[in-house]
Amino acid sequence: MASVDLDHVTKDFPDGTRAVDEIELAIADGEFMIFVGPSGCGKTTALRMVAGLEKVSSGEIRIGGVAVNDLDPVERDIAMVFQNYALYPHMTVRDNISFPLKMQGVGRRESNGRVNDAARLLGIEELLHRKPRELSGGQRQRVAMGRAIVRHPQAFLMDEPLSNLDAKLRVQMRAELVKLHARLGVTTIYVTHDQTEAMTLGQRVAVLSKGVVQQVDTPQRLYSRPTNTFVASFIGSPAMNFLRGRAVRGELELGDRRFELPAEVRDEIERERGDVLVGLRPEAFADALLAGTDERPRLHADVEITEQLGPETLAYVRIPGFETMELGERPVELAGALAARLDPRTRARPGETVELALDLEQVHLFDRETGASLLR
Ligand SMILES: Nc1ncnc2c1ncn2[C@@H]1O[C@H](COP(=O)(O)OP(=O)(O)O)[C@@H](O)[C@H]1O
Ligand SMILES: [Mg+2]
Repeated sequence: MASVDLDHVTKDFPDGTRAVDEIELAIADGEFMIFVGPSGCGKTTALRMVAGLEKVSSGEIRIGGVAVNDLDPVERDIAMVFQNYALYPHMTVRDNISFPLKMQGVGRRESNGRVNDAARLLGIEELLHRKPRELSGGQRQRVAMGRAIVRHPQAFLMDEPLSNLDAKLRVQMRAELVKLHARLGVTTIYVTHDQTEAMTLGQRVAVLSKGVVQQVDTPQRLYSRPTNTFVASFIGSPAMNFLRGRAVRGELELGDRRFELPAEVRDEIERERGDVLVGLRPEAFADALLAGTDERPRLHADVEITEQLGPETLAYVRIPGFETMELGERPVELAGALAARLDPRTRARPGETVELALDLEQVHLFDRETGASLLR
């Protein structure tokens, strides 16, 4: 096991594409680190550079404190699990899993023991005699995982390893990965485009956009303290709502309404700002009828669509006079609508009006030009 450091690591492809731009990241020994971001943001390239499958254009990668830029993949002692893993079709599961050990010259007894341990951990003990073609997608993925585990490598690199699995199996495998990591304690870098997966798996998550790390934080901090509008809109589902507003003398202006900003928010705004981008997560809104008689300001909203999800009802609403901005990925027909996460007992129905209570303690404020958070 070892720490993994990326020190201003950049990758320029010959065609001029800058896939990774000055990544600066220290991954601790034993840490479970996630790289998350939309397709094409440089996750795979970053991982391939750590593995030694792709040359670094500038910067340095260190494993266990040792610079590895010039080391071959085999010399780096790292195990990689891909989305499209290749198993040897003519070999049994046992032989597939033990293959890297054979290459390392590990003895038969030791090898058998390690394969049995890995198979037990992954729940594939009964499959050891089978050939890959006799396995389901999920079982094959476990075999690929087993092949990585038996090596006892310095680090695991996983590139969307669960994306070929169906939703239920994916959730199950996620939980197993967390347990596996807790048990083995091997430094892991896990790449995914799925923010839910990132939030459930990671101790720390690095959010990437266009080859640049936007924020590295715990899932909770990413959600409650996004550093910019990219992170704010990427993390969370439905995405954060964005509105044009003004913050002036401790008040927030939205449309023709003025709201007093909570003291905590006021204290955190670095200075008077004027025009701002206001971020409100769906849960900042509640059905006023069910919210009791508290101090929260009330808003009248026109309900466009409701989705009854059981524990909550999502309502897409429009508030007259409020100017929304589309940053997340809303379906076109909902562009400009605000998502509100309501108590399932809400009587909000499409085509009707609902009175909402707005929780300003949950407000986020961003610079309109740069998208940077204005809260400390
Ligand atoms: N071999 C290559 N040559 C040129 N551009 C590449 C190559 N591999 C990836 N890219 C580009 O680099 C960027 C990052 O790609 P990638 O690391 O695969 O992203 P991700 O894994 O986040 O989807 C993309 O713009 C992609 O088109
Ligand atoms: Mg990729």
